Amino acid sequence: MAFSSQICEWYHQHKRDLPWRNTKHAYPIWLSEVMLQQTRVKQALPYFTKFLKRFPKVCDLAHAKEDEVLKMWQGLGYYSRGRNLHKAAQKICFELHGEFPNSFEGLKKLPGIGEYTASAIASFAYQTPLAVVDGNVYRVLARYLGISTPINSPEGEKIFKEKANELLNKKLPDLHNQAIMEFGALHCTPKKPKCLFCPLQESCVAFQLNKVNQLPVKLKKTKVKNLYQHYFIFETESQKTLLNHRNFEGIWKNLYVFPVLEYFNKPRLEEVKTDFENKFDLRVKMERFEKKPKQHLLSHRKIQAYFWQVKLSSKEFDRIQKENNYQLTNFHKVKEFAVPVLIQNFIDAFLSGN
Ligand code: ADE
Repeated sequence: MAFSSQICEWYHQHKRDLPWRNTKHAYPIWLSEVMLQQTRVKQALPYFTKFLKRFPKVCDLAHAKEDEVLKMWQGLGYYSRGRNLHKAAQKICFELHGEFPNSFEGLKKLPGIGEYTASAIASFAYQTPLAVVDGNVYRVLARYLGISTPINSPEGEKIFKEKANELLNKKLPDLHNQAIMEFGALHCTPKKPKCLFCPLQESCVAFQLNKVNQLPVKLKKTKVKNLYQHYFIFETESQKTLLNHRNFEGIWKNLYVFPVLEYFNKPRLEEVKTDFENKFDLRVKMERFEKKPKQHLLSHRKIQAYFWQVKLSSKEFDRIQKENNYQLTNFHKVKEFAVPVLIQNFIDAFLSGN
């Protein structure tokens, strides 16, 4: 128990006052955990407040339109989290009578809830004795126990889960889990950990063997691929433009973007123009707003985005809208749609005349 009592003691002295820690209700705990899956606390905080204000109960979220949820999610990235959040709320509200499942197994059946999130909700909301293992926990345990098995290998996942559960304080799993995650986030950090002021110094294997900077070990991820996007900003004299709903699998599913051609290899401009002419059966003068692409990084894509201005007669504009089932809108209204930040930034610059 020495490990748990030491980190809990540290937690009492150093913890941040975060709103999801002042509740035992599964709904806000779930909301915070989903937001925090790939997002930092500081960035997630305003979204957490905004969501709870607009959707105070899980059924308020269930009754919202997916478009609104994605719009509110805008800027947090990894939009499948937002879509799954909405689907899970609908399942809880319409199939489970608004009651959150109170077991690990039940929680795991909800869309978007994996092993980590289910353990987090089960321990924080229901005091189920299950250890959470997120990136912070991997780091703390790898160093404290001196484990060099890669954390993202099947073997590593198994070992770390076992060790985390061995060290867990089964009587206070909620406190223990919050404490170890907070300790990883603030003290046993990836770079410049505060080893000289660490309460675990004497029993930390990595510190004793001078291996803190070598742990944890992580296998290299798959390469980030380049993606070249050419967006077409169709314009009529009446300030109207067209958007495409990405209702297919892949990045930004169910978000709106300007009509686009996408390439994994950098195309020559002539190729883009020919593809454009073939796709829309249209020969018009088109110009790029800027020669330099806008860069946008996702976890597995490096996007280079080009924006083309395409002025059209109303007749051609109407034909293109109908043939492609595009969403017609006014330039000033683009931001009311759930659009990726890349598109939002373009439209902001466009409307301000830059
Ligand atoms: N990251 C994931 N869950 C968290 C929590 N409950 N508090 C702070 N950071 C977290």
